[in-house]
Parts: sequence; structure tokens; C-alpha cells
Amino acid sequence: MKKILAFAGSNSSSSVNRKLVEHAKSKAAEYEITLIDLRDFDAPMFSEDLEKASGVPESIMKLKEVFTDHDAFMIASPEHNGMMPAFFKNLMDWLSRAGGKIFQEKPVLLMSTSPGPRGGQTNLANMKNLFPYWGAKAVFADFYLGSFYQAYDAETGNFTKPEDEARLKKVVADYESFLNNQ
Ligand SMILES: Cc1cc2nc3c(=O)[nH]c(=O)nc-3n(C[C@H](O)[C@H](O)[C@H](O)COP(=O)(O)O)c2cc1C
Repeated sequence: MKKILAFAGSNSSSSVNRKLVEHAKSKAAEYEITLIDLRDFDAPMFSEDLEKASGVPESIMKLKEVFTDHDAFMIASPEHNGMMPAFFKNLMDWLSRAGGKIFQEKPVLLMSTSPGPRGGQTNLANMKNLFPYWGAKAVFADFYLGSFYQAYDAETGNFTKPEDEARLKKVVADYESFLNNQ
């Protein structure tokens, strides 16, 4: 069975994007999904000096192995000042120095959410353009969710609006059907 690697590009213990990716995982019917926490693979701020002195950190080599061990990705990224968080970018910068392309010619489902009304869509559009250069074979970036704390019910773990539930279900189903045809 093909395996999807899922994570949020956040280092916040209360990440809303982690909640989103967990919820998306629950919508997947056909694939085995491994949910990881990128905080378990944290690394110092990238610097060429550090790289020359001590090479790529062990945590990054482990993260690369996990990427290699999966067939596709499911990612929810926060938006910080219109871009992906420095935490996420830093891990990707290190990964780009670990040999080969970051996403190893594999498909990526990208999503985002934020407490604000735009749901991180500026960054989502930017990442959609960027990811093919990072080795993503195909990028699906059709799901963002604004006003997270109104849109998500922490008690039930579901979205408050049925149309948001249906949207997420469709995005995940479409992604799975794309993967089926790979
Ligand atoms: C430095 C900083 C910049 C932010 N910039 C944006 C932004 O550009 N757009 C947005 O929708 N939210 C922005 N936010 C709010 C985040 O969406 C919010 O903190 C969210 O919870 C981050 O996602 P996470 O909980 O998954 O880490 C910003 C937050 C911080 C701390």
C-alpha cells in the first residue's frame, strides 16, 4: 500500500495547521498516512559556515529518510507575514543540502489555515508555485480555511460548516484518486 507523509509546517504546540492536517488525515480512505511532527526534526538556523564545520544535522538526515520512505506528501503550512514560517523554510533549506531534491519527485497536497479570514492563501499560492522547483511532482493546493477558531469545533474535531467538511473530503478524495493513477 502506498504511504503518505503528513505534517504541519509549524513549531507551535497549539498549531492550527496541525489540527487541519490531522483532520485531513481522517478523511483519507485508501492510503496509509504517517503523521509526523516537524519539531522532532528541528535543526539550527541554516548557515554555510555551520554546514562547512559540521555538515547536515542528523535530524535532517533522519527527516530525509522519512521522506524517502513515503510515496506522497500532505502538508498544512501556516502563513507568517505572507510567507511560510522561518521554522519550516529552515528545515527545507537544510533538506535541500542533504542530496537530491526536497520532495524527491513525489506529489504534494498543500493546505493552509489561519485565525484570520484569508486562511493563509497568499502563502499557499506562493508555495504552489515554488514546490515544483523543490522537486514536487505535482502540487494540489486547493484547500485553505479562514477564521480557524470559528470554522473548527475543538470539542468534536470537525468543521462547523458542512460545506467545509465536504470541501476537505473532496480535496483528499481527488488527491487519492490522482495517486491511484500514478
Ligand atoms: C510572525 C507572525 C506573522 C503572521 N503573519 C500572518 C499572515 O501573514 N497571514 C495570516 O493569515 N496569519 C498570520 N499570522 C497568524 C498565524 O496565522 C497564526 O499564528 C497561526 O496560528 C499560525 O499557524 P499555526 O498555529 O499552525 O502555527 C502570523 C503570526 C505570526 C506569529
